[in-house]
Amino acid sequence: MPHPLDRLALHVAYGARQLPRIAWFVGHGVAMRQLSRAAQRRGAAAPAAPRQAAGSTDRSRLFADLAALMRQDLANVERGIYPLPNDRDGSLPELLDRSRLFFTDLPDVQRRREQGRHSEVNSEPYAGKRPRYYLQNFHFQSGGWMTDGSARRYDTQVEVLFKGTANAMRRQALPPLHEAFARRDQRTLRLLDVGAGTGRLLDAVKQAWPRLPVLGIDLSEAYSREARKHLDRWSGTRMVVANAEQMPVPDASQDAVTSVFLFHELPPRVRRTVLAECARVLKPGGRLVIVDSLQTGDEPDYDGALAMFPRNFHEPYFTTYLAEDFAAMARDCGLTKVRDVRAFFSKVMVFDRLG
Ligand SMILES: C[S@@+](CC[C@H](N)C(=O)[O-])C[C@H]1O[C@@H](n2cnc3c(N)ncnc32)[C@H](O)[C@@H]1O
Repeated sequence: MPHPLDRLALHVAYGARQLPRIAWFVGHGVAMRQLSRAAQRRGAAAPAAPRQAAGSTDRSRLFADLAALMRQDLANVERGIYPLPNDRDGSLPELLDRSRLFFTDLPDVQRRREQGRHSEVNSEPYAGKRPRYYLQNFHFQSGGWMTDGSARRYDTQVEVLFKGTANAMRRQALPPLHEAFARRDQRTLRLLDVGAGTGRLLDAVKQAWPRLPVLGIDLSEAYSREARKHLDRWSGTRMVVANAEQMPVPDASQDAVTSVFLFHELPPRVRRTVLAECARVLKPGGRLVIVDSLQTGDEPDYDGALAMFPRNFHEPYFTTYLAEDFAAMARDCGLTKVRDVRAFFSKVMVFDRLG
């Protein structure tokens, strides 16, 4: 048992890092909606004010669930699963610059939303260079997944959407990994993150297991570049640009595979292929941890917000995701479902490859 004063110090340190962060991103959401209303009053094209991920969910319920996630995050630190999280959002000038990029892009996002334009990125110079399902402006974002600007804005956009909890939701992938890695030498293990984006999950993994060799795969060169920058303080970290449908990774080579916020962006057929790829590269007994949105029926109070999400954001495969039977899909790939754990708007789905 830690000394009560040590425990208090830990709680204070956690709050000192997380509360201003939440306030910062909630503040961005508030400012975004104010700007939108002001523009509407002026009759000008409004900057983007998507209904938040929260949609119709009761606010007090929402903040209670956010607080539950934070308590869980802190409990994981107290249990020694990972150290006090460092979100590594950058220096103040960097934060302000990301903020500027976020706000200056809003009118373009709103224009796409109003005009229903979600395929701008499927044009020169990218047309034909990626699968058709991939070349879309998901969330009506500028550049789709293809540009450095998009990669630089992405983390702010996601944190604003989730009220500063995106990293905390990602970290909920770590307890099932901790369980799988218990009493094993991290240097001998291998972890692959599929659809690694800007590398935020891998950064959290390395904070917990600094000597674990990790590989991130993503189909975006721009996002992979951003991830490499973010992860450059770690050794034993590689980012490879590749399609998750056909990963350049040997069979049965990974002790753990993770994937965060990817599966809801894939068409049903591709979702199956990618899950089968995750199973293929796992060693027998290896663990797959997926963090993605809640699905219909997981939390009935959230069903309305989830159903609305693809209307406010361009999320063409989200509705099929909401009804996807992951346990059955996993069985078909030789995986067995271990459990689901709720993490605010997300859930952590844990599977093991049959030995
Ligand atoms: C919503 S983002 C999630 C990024 C990151 N995992 C996170 O925690 O935020 C989806 C990511 O998946 C990548 N992606 C989508 N389809 C892919 C595919 N078929 N193969 C590899 N990466 C893909 C995109 O490039 C993007 O970086």
